[in-house]
Amino acid sequence: MSETIYSRVENGLDRIGCEGHLRSIPDIDHGNDLYLMHKGKRHKGKRLLNLASNNYLGLAGSESLKQAAMRAVETFGVSSGASRLITGNYALYDELEQYLCSFKKTPAALVMNSGYAANLGIISSLADRKTLVFSDRLNHASIIDGIILSRAGHIRYRHSDPEHLEFLLQKAPEQAQKILITDTVFSMDGDRAALPELVLLCKKHKVAIIIDEAHATGLLGLGKGLAAELGLDQDIDVQMGTFSKALGSFGGYVAGSRELIDLLTNRARSFIYSTALPPAVVGANLEALRQVEAHPEKGKKLQFMAGDIRRYLNSLGYNTGSSTTQIIPVILGESRKTMQFQEKLKELGIYAGAVRPPTVARNSARLRLCLRADMDDPEIELIKNAFKELDISQEK
Ligand SMILES: Cc1ncc(COP(=O)(O)O)c(C=O)c1O
Repeated sequence: MSETIYSRVENGLDRIGCEGHLRSIPDIDHGNDLYLMHKGKRHKGKRLLNLASNNYLGLAGSESLKQAAMRAVETFGVSSGASRLITGNYALYDELEQYLCSFKKTPAALVMNSGYAANLGIISSLADRKTLVFSDRLNHASIIDGIILSRAGHIRYRHSDPEHLEFLLQKAPEQAQKILITDTVFSMDGDRAALPELVLLCKKHKVAIIIDEAHATGLLGLGKGLAAELGLDQDIDVQMGTFSKALGSFGGYVAGSRELIDLLTNRARSFIYSTALPPAVVGANLEALRQVEAHPEKGKKLQFMAGDIRRYLNSLGYNTGSSTTQIIPVILGESRKTMQFQEKLKELGIYAGAVRPPTVARNSARLRLCLRADMDDPEIELIKNAFKELDISQEK
């Protein structure tokens, strides 16, 4: 490494370390299974209930998705070989996009290489220097990066606060092109966007609306997302989501008008300049949608379980914030206490994510529980007993 790069790397690491934000890849294996394998020193070889992955329906390890992926490999090989606009297209892509259109009830759909790539491509294709993008303060990092890439004016409104949004809309120049973008289920808090109010405000102030259904797809609205659950899907200009969470696979999607998809096909650089997804992934994505359509009850069961666990945690005095979904934050405040609780949970047989600032606001460090539909009574008991034993009042 050259000296200049070496000192940059060293300074960078020192700075992250001093701020207490140094991250490393956890020592785990089989991280999408209901029980993952811990390989770290203290818990070596221990199987822990996995409450940290986004495999909300347990589809990632399902026989049906594995078989679909293998069939796709048998037919089309392991790589797409090029970007979709060159020679990377194959029949499964067309089938998947047609399925998406009928599933999401939109005239057109486009599969993108990840949810992250989808947000970058959508926002940078629709917004430019002259655009004002109104964005919830807790929107996902890929939305923030998309806005930065587009060079649009970035106006952040207070989390889930339509009144603040309206105040900011009223202050904005009337003639400016305006876009509103929001997660529908927020990934760190598990709460839902105030979509009915947002849709009304967008109509009133002539604002285009983009939604990110990453944590709602496959679960809410019979798997179609929060907008469909609320009967608002036809009021949304751009519906984006990902195959990488409840759908148990990989890749992102956009659903909307034919013209929108044609524009993205021509302008979204994350779509144009990247090799198309491999056949195994596209085959699995198609099967995942079929599974969700055939078994919408699994998403409902998960929300029911989440309600039960949330009520139990609240009865023990835990703060679960404004969660109303399968993502339940247990807000502990201090980072140190959160890390201690995470370790204790491992000893009790549970692996949960610990989320600290700067990912969440100061003094709101938390354990993030991501519940799964493939849990049953033993797992629910394990969670309840563990949190009872943890004891919110304990201070070390
Ligand atoms: C709200 C939201 N949008 C987009 C993404 C990115 O999706 P992907 O993991 O498919 O890139 C994520 C997840 O990381 C997310 O939580």
